Amino acid sequence: MPHPDKKPFGSAPDGTPIDLFILDNGRGVEARITNFGGIIVSLFAPDRHGGRRDILLGFGDARGFARNKPYFGALIGRCANRIAKARFVLDGRTYHLAANDGDNHLHGGIMGFDRVVWKARPVDEDGPALELKYRSKDGEEGYPGNLDVTVVYTVTPAGQLQIRYEAVTDQPTPVNLTSHAYFNLGDSPDILGHEIRLNAGFFLPVDAGLIPTGELRRVDGTPFDFRAPASIGGRLTADDKQLRLARGIDHTFVLDKRGGALATAAEVYDRASGRAMRVRTTEPGIQVYTGNFLDGTILGKGGRAYGPRAAICLEAQHFPDSPNQPQFPSAILRPGEVYRQTTVYEFTAA
Ligand code: GLA
Repeated sequence: MPHPDKKPFGSAPDGTPIDLFILDNGRGVEARITNFGGIIVSLFAPDRHGGRRDILLGFGDARGFARNKPYFGALIGRCANRIAKARFVLDGRTYHLAANDGDNHLHGGIMGFDRVVWKARPVDEDGPALELKYRSKDGEEGYPGNLDVTVVYTVTPAGQLQIRYEAVTDQPTPVNLTSHAYFNLGDSPDILGHEIRLNAGFFLPVDAGLIPTGELRRVDGTPFDFRAPASIGGRLTADDKQLRLARGIDHTFVLDKRGGALATAAEVYDRASGRAMRVRTTEPGIQVYTGNFLDGTILGKGGRAYGPRAAICLEAQHFPDSPNQPQFPSAILRPGEVYRQTTVYEFTAA
């Protein structure tokens, strides 16, 4: 299998040189990934006429990603999304995490996995692949145990970007990894015209701090019912308390599946370009985020100002705040166990 090409990509904020790896399937799908934060810098996918376009929000260079407040394209860990009051109790002991979102912990803290330099190695998979490794030390951002994380990105001949995650620990710890890519499949500056379908009969309502209340709410009769394809723009205008709290969709959808099988979670379609994306995952939930915090002040690739709704994130993960919500699927990893996740983004055009 072809190895990815590699070129220098400047340096991380601490001065460490970083690289850009180019994973090209030779059939129109190409991912460019840096070992800084494991960030997918660009992802090219063909439209219905074979025209290629970078469908991810991000920056043109490493300097831009040094201030990556929205987590564009990054790997997120040790725990994705929020942990209430930046603390949790595990085996009778209270752990205090970095509070970087008001009183809450967000996306692994101040120096989350999105801001560290990963060890990178091209590997042989079903297509050009990149293996990234990172050791998160005992106590980092407040988490217990040394956690050894491996992520493998593969671009397959069938036009899929596969992300495989593994982690092992030497002390019990919560682990909840995800990818924070911001997708815009079309040529329009927003994703309001995108249609989405979600295999989710329930979603997690949140409080004013965007922490799940603990309730699993049926989507029936709410703007969160995407069991049949619906345009995002049409839903965001609904008069709904949950949409108001989050200023859009920023909610976990509970996937209709049992156990850890790889199953379709989401489908996204941009009618104008014909680009379609299918997301399959082994995870129990998917966080759908409609770029509500983007306010036009960030200038991204080509100097473009990214406003609200400029993209959609579909983050496969365990439920936010799981370490504090025992009724949620457990996100605790113990010594001797292996954390595993596979999430596949598949691109077609019609
Ligand atoms: C996730 C969260 C959002 C926000 C973004 C990053 O999707 O759910 O609330 O924090 O990340 O800006």
